[in-house]
Amino acid sequence: MKKVVIIAIAIVAAMSCGRQGSESSSAVSFDEVLETRRSIRDFDASKEVTEAQVREILTTAQGAPSWTNSQPSRYYVAISPDKADAVRELIGERNKQSTKGAPVFIVSTFVKGLSGFSRGKIFNEIGDGWGAYDNGLSNAYLVLKA
Ligand SMILES: Cc1cc2nc3c(=O)[nH]c(=O)nc-3n(C[C@H](O)[C@H](O)[C@H](O)COP(=O)(O)O)c2cc1C
Repeated sequence: MKKVVIIAIAIVAAMSCGRQGSESSSAVSFDEVLETRRSIRDFDASKEVTEAQVREILTTAQGAPSWTNSQPSRYYVAISPDKADAVRELIGERNKQSTKGAPVFIVSTFVKGLSGFSRGKIFNEIGDGWGAYDNGLSNAYLVLKA
């Protein structure tokens, strides 16, 4: 079985949360997305995030470039309040406080032994470390879409 590395927890607190006044994401230019994206720690916990919205951003993340298109990222989504709370129990105190009430947690991971390999052998001196690059890119797509 491939080893999975958990490297980050991303929180979807409110879709398009940094772009007030935009009702439809299609009305937002890519420049505006890049310039207004922020790490949101003060959010409206009553705002619903639907499974369809989560699927949409995961599909976008799936389109990120990766080593030989190996797509090593894997995401695990806690979408019910109970499951989101269970994930919150696993994170550090500061993040636990800033994510209070977050309706959805997305745990971001990557599978080792895929990226950076050619015909099953490590391709260069970075060894089995390329997955972190792929996962970072994939996470960037994810947060921009969110
Ligand atoms: C790899 C990585 C890990 C991060 N970890 C945390 C974290 O644990 N808690 C948190 O509140 N923000 C975290 N951040 C968000 C950064 O603090 C934030 O991006 C930075 O302060 C710049 O602010 P901005 O995203 O609003 O532009 C992380 C960002 C990156 C790229």
